[in-house]
Amino acid sequence: MTPDNRMKWEEAGEGPAVVLLHAFPLDHAMWRPQLANLGDVCRLIVPDLPGFGGSAGFDGPPALERMADEVAALLDALGLREPVVLGGLSMGGYVALAFARKYPGRLRGLVLADTRAEADTAEGRANRDKLIAFAESHTALDVVDQMMPKLVGSVTLAARPAVVEEIRRIAAAQSPAGVVGALRAMRDRPDSTPVLADVRVPTLVITGTDDKLIPLATAEALAARIPLATLATIADAGHLSNLEAPERFNAALRSFLAALG
Ligand code: MLT
Repeated sequence: MTPDNRMKWEEAGEGPAVVLLHAFPLDHAMWRPQLANLGDVCRLIVPDLPGFGGSAGFDGPPALERMADEVAALLDALGLREPVVLGGLSMGGYVALAFARKYPGRLRGLVLADTRAEADTAEGRANRDKLIAFAESHTALDVVDQMMPKLVGSVTLAARPAVVEEIRRIAAAQSPAGVVGALRAMRDRPDSTPVLADVRVPTLVITGTDDKLIPLATAEALAARIPLATLATIADAGHLSNLEAPERFNAALRSFLAALG
């Protein structure tokens, strides 16, 4: 826990710092396959974003920029003054882009997995409002069960029951207040598209080829707009590609880190 008791994180390994930010409605535990595998090439740090896992909720109105501020405060608490590799999956990617906008000098690389730069559309915001109303009177497990058909790919739904159960287990531990706060923050997030051309660090865009929430074309457009980006596609994986096909996800991350030097 950080000294101010705001942010909890887990870490593994030694070497250059790599920070990975989790998806909604999960916590740092979704990075277990990466914590178990990547410690020989980096110091992998995986925090719980505000309101999730063991971290405190928002101080004021929920906003992804506040999440990015908490990540910056965590780096300070860990004494990480040198630029780091920062990555995020889906909601974690929204936060990573908010961080890139506000703290560009603290980055040496960016990993954007199964995420998008655009803000919610009007229809997307209306759907958020419906999910907020649902989440206010249901558990986080109910929320994730409702999302599950789109949260993982078809192969995972049909043939990887242990992965689906792991996702349900992590979601079941989340508080309704954390879930609702994150939904509000995502609904109100600004468009990060204008930031992309200014990203000056090598960037890895990763996407599951069967991501039902972020179409492949969206990931391709994201990579095309960032000057130093490469795109890695993960076969037989959906939105939670790091959990669904960890070997391929880890391999993509390893070769990105090796190229960064
Ligand atoms: C996530 O996986 O973090 C969420 O699906 C992102 C979103 O709802 O926009």
